[in-house]
Order: sequence, then structure tokens, then C-alpha cells
Amino acid sequence: VNGKIQIPVVVNVLYRTTAENISDAQIQTQIDVLNKDFNAANSDYGSVPTLFAGVKANVEISFVLDQIIRKSTTKTSWGTTDTMKKTASGGLDPTTPTTKLNLWACTIGGGILGYAQFPGGASATDGVVIDSKYFGLSGTAAAPYNLGRTGTHEVGHWMNLRHIWGDATCGSDLVSDTPTHNTANYGVPAYPHYSTCTGTPVEMTMNYMDYTDDNAMYMFTLGQKSRMAAIFVTGGARAAFGI
Ligand code: ARG
Ligand code: ZN
Ligand code: CA
Repeated sequence: VNGKIQIPVVVNVLYRTTAENISDAQIQTQIDVLNKDFNAANSDYGSVPTLFAGVKANVEISFVLDQIIRKSTTKTSWGTTDTMKKTASGGLDPTTPTTKLNLWACTIGGGILGYAQFPGGASATDGVVIDSKYFGLSGTAAAPYNLGRTGTHEVGHWMNLRHIWGDATCGSDLVSDTPTHNTANYGVPAYPHYSTCTGTPVEMTMNYMDYTDDNAMYMFTLGQKSRMAAIFVTGGARAAFGI
């Protein structure tokens, strides 16, 4: 599958205010960020510490904007219960979710930047939700989450990646080349940041699957790449993408 995975992306915009009705140009910036981050073409890729140079990865998955669907709404926030994904609840049903990645841009609320559905879930709710304030690079994107990395992180989940700390103290992300982290890291951690878990490894705080600021995350690993590629092969949960 190397170098051949190309994902059509449908963007569903739900807006009440004009700020929430993000522009086509802003939507394209999110696609561009995904293409950079998943192809080791991000400008900060060279900042990966030497310690991790042997495991940093060009994931070789690209994204193509397929269509933008817009709908006006009176809702002020949508929460995380998938109502934005249902036309019957005032949202927008996904478009052919078994062969296209659906993104929803809307106000989530509760300080949530975005959330994703892992492979294997119901196709009616499959895809990634990104709060419109954190969608792409321009317009209403707000620092320190203004570099489109919420999209990169959430698409990582959609491709089966877990949080690097395994959502538990010294937990596992089921990837062997990422170090064990105590817990989530925030902000812009100083390097090196040592884990107190077994072996006291240096934590890979610059991995997209941590919780740091957008300007502090800039790599996936080879192990994460294999885990993502596995869902697209025959028998994988997203094999219908036909790659
Ligand atoms: N699921 C996380 C949240 O909603 C997203 C974290 C994204 N991190 C980032 N630097 N953009 O809080
Ligand atoms: Zn996450
Ligand atoms: Ca690991």
C-alpha cells in the first residue's frame, strides 16, 4: 500500500454564525496540513530529536477534497453525541462513509477541540468532528491550536491510533516504537522530558497522538504507520477504501 493510499474527504459545515461558516480556503488549509503531516512534509519535521530519528515516519497517505456540504442551523453547540452526523437531528448524514472520510466542522462546546470514530464502528457515524475554531489554518483558528493539528490527531484516531499514553498511567498505545508515557502532556514540553514509567524513557511529546500545543507536535512513528496501513488492506476495517 506504500505511497498509494489516497483518501477522498467530504467536509460537512454546520453553521449558525458567519464565523462558523468557514471558507472554502480555510477548509483547503486543513486538507493541506493533513497532506503535509501524513507525508513528512511538515516544516517542523526536521525538529524531531535525534533520539527518535530512526523511528520517525513518512506515513504516505494523502487526502483529496471531494466536496463541501454546508447547512445553516440554530444550534449553538453540538456536544459529542454524534447529533451533527444525523440529518434527522438537524445535522448532516455522512456521504458514502465507507469510501470517503467525512469531516464535520461545527461548534462542539465543552472545551473539546475534536473527536473521532475508530475503525470498526457504525458507518452512519463514521468520521471526524473538528470544532470550527480549530479547523485548518486561517479564519477563526485560535492559538495554540491554530496549525490544523487537531485534524491530524483526530484523523490518526480514525486510522486506529490510540493516545500515546494509552489513556492510563504508563498505559500502552499498542505501538512498540513509541515510548511509554506517564500521562498526557500539554503545552510545549521542554526536551528531554523523562517518563517515570518502567525504564524511564524520554517521552515522545512531539508525537501527534499526545495532547501538546499544535506547534509542539510534528511526528508519527513507523509503528504508527504500520498500524494505520493495516486498516486499509484486505480484511481491514477500512478495506472498502479500495487501496
Ligand atoms: N481530542 C483532543 C481534544 O479534543 C484533541 C487534541 C488535539 N490537540 C491539538 N494540539 N490540537 O481535546
Ligand atoms: Zn485524541
Ligand atoms: Ca508504545
